[in-house]
Amino acid sequence: MTRRRNPGELSMAAIKERVFSGVQPTGNLHLGNYLGAIKRFVDLQTKYDCIYCVVDLHAITVWQEPDELTKNIREVTAAFIACGIDPKRHIVFNQSQVAEHAELAWIFSCVARMGWLNRMTQFKEKAGKDRENASVGLYAYPALMAADILVYRATHVPVGDDQKQHLELARDIAQKFNNDFAAQIAKLGLGQVFFPLTEPLISGPATRVMSLRDGTKKMSKSDASDYSRINLTDGADEIAQKVRKARTDPEPLPSDEEALARRPEADNLVGIFAALADRPKTAVLAEYGGAQFARFKDALTELAVEKLGPIGAEMKRLVQDPKHIDSILVDGASRARKLAAETMKHVKDIVGFVRD
Ligand code: TYM
Repeated sequence: MTRRRNPGELSMAAIKERVFSGVQPTGNLHLGNYLGAIKRFVDLQTKYDCIYCVVDLHAITVWQEPDELTKNIREVTAAFIACGIDPKRHIVFNQSQVAEHAELAWIFSCVARMGWLNRMTQFKEKAGKDRENASVGLYAYPALMAADILVYRATHVPVGDDQKQHLELARDIAQKFNNDFAAQIAKLGLGQVFFPLTEPLISGPATRVMSLRDGTKKMSKSDASDYSRINLTDGADEIAQKVRKARTDPEPLPSDEEALARRPEADNLVGIFAALADRPKTAVLAEYGGAQFARFKDALTELAVEKLGPIGAEMKRLVQDPKHIDSILVDGASRARKLAAETMKHVKDIVGFVRD
């Protein structure tokens, strides 16, 4: 029996499956960025056409020293490549080189509602108490993020758990655009759905890697304590020291996930181990359940050094040659621009702008 498809699905079928994701060049790339995002970007390359972006326009929503920003853009690019992203088969570029992101973001700022943006928890966290002094860009950030994804009409977006709300907003924007302009989209013969309702890919044992100092706080680039995170460029000694000092509780490791869920620090370390080893948490617990933390931490250190050591070394090697990195970004940007320009032509026709 053939299943009847709804009209939305029919026109979605015309949209090519494509992955998009981005990482901010704001320094201190850490294990959370790797396990929650970049490692998964690498895995998706065999199944999809992928576009991976160093989102420098997002970075400047808070102040960035210009020289540091340049260095950080190259460092994130180096991390992408060192982790195994292939910039020839896929697209790697920095956002500011493709002006269509900002152009579509403006249109989306006119589609998104103030009430939607007012609900964004990341803005509230980042702006803190001094909201009056936050940049307008920080507030409008999610509209730019929706534009990043939808300017390529990307269908799948791998991210960590902290980006979930932003992706829901991107879906709301896509849906409102599709609805507001439904008649025009149909008139132009573009189907019933112009923008896809992007699917977030948030999965695996490390979608939310927590601070090594506090199992209730997310591992973050901006934490004042370097001991809270493992940076991708940390050497073996730093990794060993940070894992040794990681906060734990006095009990040995439990054997089942239910007991683990009640112990945030233990849960975090097991999740990190599982993600690094490409094994489910249950398999890690089957091996280490009942073990003291000292033994588990030794095994975790060994595994982390084995997996991250070569990445850090390759990043350090790549950043020695900024010309090479810049040429990768220029090449990626020129390919991205072609795709983005195609979408923008349609968007301009849909909105009713006059163009060449
Ligand atoms: P950013 O630069 O803060 O983080 C990059 C990616 O790393 C993930 N991540 C984590 N995952 C697990 N545990 C953690 N502790 C952790 N910390 C960070 C993030 O979820 C993210 O996937 N707004 C985005 C960048 C962006 C974007 C986009 C992403 C801009 N446009 C379009 C996807 C699609 C951000 O600030 O990520």
